[in-house]
Parts: sequence; C-alpha cells; structure tokens
Amino acid sequence: MQSIVILISGSGSNMSALVRASQEEDWATRYGAPVAAVISNRADAAGLAWAKQQGIATQVISHQDFPDRAQFDAALAQAIASCAGAGKPPLVLLAGFMRILTPGFVQSHAGRLINIHPSLLPAFTGLHTHARALAAGCKFAGATVHRVTEVLDEGAILEQSVVPVLPEDDAPRLAARVLATEHIIYPRAVRKLLAAGLS
Ligand code: GRF
Repeated sequence: MQSIVILISGSGSNMSALVRASQEEDWATRYGAPVAAVISNRADAAGLAWAKQQGIATQVISHQDFPDRAQFDAALAQAIASCAGAGKPPLVLLAGFMRILTPGFVQSHAGRLINIHPSLLPAFTGLHTHARALAAGCKFAGATVHRVTEVLDEGAILEQSVVPVLPEDDAPRLAARVLATEHIIYPRAVRKLLAAGLS
C-alpha cells in the first residue's frame, strides 16, 4: 500500500479533482493508494471542509506557528508520515500549496513529491503566471504537473495542458480556463504513476 497525502493552501479545487478521481476509479482497491489525508498550512483553506465532508482526515499545520521554514517542514513531514500509516512512504501531492519547501524536505520525499503549476513550464515559474503570459503576448498558456526538486517549479514534466489565449482574456479569465484543464491533467498524471507501480 502507498497512500496519498494532498497538501493545500486555498480553495483546493485540484485536491477535489484528485479525490473525485480516486473515488470514481477506486485507487484504493486498484492501486492500493487511498487518499489518506489533506493537510493545509492555512486554517481558512476552503478545501478542508470539502475534504472532511468526503470523510478524509484533515489537518492544519500553520507555518505561522513555527520560527523558520525548517521547523515548519519538519512538522509537516511528521504529519505526513503519521497520516500515511503502514506501507510505503506516501505519495505527496502539492495542490495549490503556497509554501516553498526546504531542500531537506524535498530530499526526504524524493521521487514521490509532485506539484501542479499554472504555466507551461519551464516558462513562468513563480507567481502571477497568467498576467505574465498575457504581458508577454503568449498565444498559448497552460499548466504543468511535474516532479518537485529543490529548485522552484523545476523537475521532470509529467503532464501538460495547453489553452489558447483569447483576445478578450484577462488574467482571471485565462486562469479559470487553465484551472479547468488542471483538474484533468493532475489526476491523469497520478493515475499513470500509480498504474506504473511507482511514485
Ligand atoms: C492552481 O492554479 C495551481 O496550479 C496553483 O494554485 C492554484 C490552486 O488552485 N499552484 P486550487 O487550490 O487547486 O483550486
């Protein structure tokens, strides 16, 4: 068994898409990979309530309760390990998790730490991706599911979605269309990893 732990900071729509896919396709039985927990660094993350309604264990670990990144990450790592229970160390899916992780955390979860980023990486790492894509005059935008390395928004690309930029687009409109594609490619990327029998 290799459980899945999803980390969020906000609305959690990618988390919901992952949970729905895991329910509809029964990842627990098919791959031995149940979604064991949703952890947020913000108590007000809207996704927490939804996850609870689904019967998934939730936990809040606020970064504000720790003096530095290393101590926050240590607490997070401990929570992830205890949620996951017995079996292989869990697959950790970052879904709108707005914290930069320390190299130590990344190394200790190497090979099983995945992120989704709202741009066609390697273009537009970091924040405000849609506004930057519009300012650059991009004709296409999109999203990327990738492995997490110590370098922000870098790491092997697992899936991408492409969305045409429309003349009437502003950043929120473009973001909404890209987000709809994120909900397809993130579950797809995870399903492929699970089907391949490795994380
Ligand atoms: C998504 O666009 C994701 O790619 C980015 O943050 C947003 C989170 O949205 N990292 P949600 O919380 O999954 O709804």
